[in-house]
Amino acid sequence: MIFDTHAHYDDRKFDEDREEVLHGLLEHGVERVVNICASWRSVEGIKALTEAYPFVYGAVGIHPDHVDELNDERMEIMREISREEKILAIGEIGLDYHWMVSPKEVQKEWFIRQLHLAKEENLPVVIHSRDASQDTFDIMKEEHAGATPGVIHCYSGSVEMAREYVKMGYFLGIGGVVTFKNGKTLKKVVEDTPLSHLVLETDCPYLSPEPFRGKRNTSAMLPYVVETIATLKGCSTEEVERVTWENAMRLYQQK
Ligand code: NI
Repeated sequence: MIFDTHAHYDDRKFDEDREEVLHGLLEHGVERVVNICASWRSVEGIKALTEAYPFVYGAVGIHPDHVDELNDERMEIMREISREEKILAIGEIGLDYHWMVSPKEVQKEWFIRQLHLAKEENLPVVIHSRDASQDTFDIMKEEHAGATPGVIHCYSGSVEMAREYVKMGYFLGIGGVVTFKNGKTLKKVVEDTPLSHLVLETDCPYLSPEPFRGKRNTSAMLPYVVETIATLKGCSTEEVERVTWENAMRLYQQK
């Protein structure tokens, strides 16, 4: 049983065959998916997906590359949506200093406001951090301490920082990158982190695992990620699936 904690099936890259892909997941052992929100446009897409597929859940939140789409009114709309039964988290939110679509200060402001929304609504957070690990960590520590934790999606920081996040109760999202030949630091992070703090994710349509790197990703490719984690942890693929499933249920407060 595989739980994909981070997918983007509302993405245009699935417009041609969305239904086929989603219906085919079960035969690959994927039994639950959380579709993560990125832009304002995806807010509607997520609603449609969670209504159409019993095994698809959602998160609501605006990615740092799209925070210029946010305003007070939309924050309140997101608050309403976050109270819907199948919306399990606020995300993805965070900092992206790679693309730097908005200035750092603007990104930080909306990141903090969305963290507060999660805190007020008692929901976990899905964190995006690219080329911004220290600032992300500092804000998380300062603004989110004591709140319902969450997941550092597509974790790309150091082993030391991973330990700090684990101490604070966060999960690390592990996807296709762990299978890459140049994914050495992430492999070390996976070796070092207790399996009880790892969850599986695709970030599809992006970040396909080897041997499909560069192609469109789907949750059906997660068995390749499971296999790599099992090798790194020296355990069976069944154990990786079972424990990461339980972790994802805890992360998203599901019974
Ligand atoms: Ni994502």
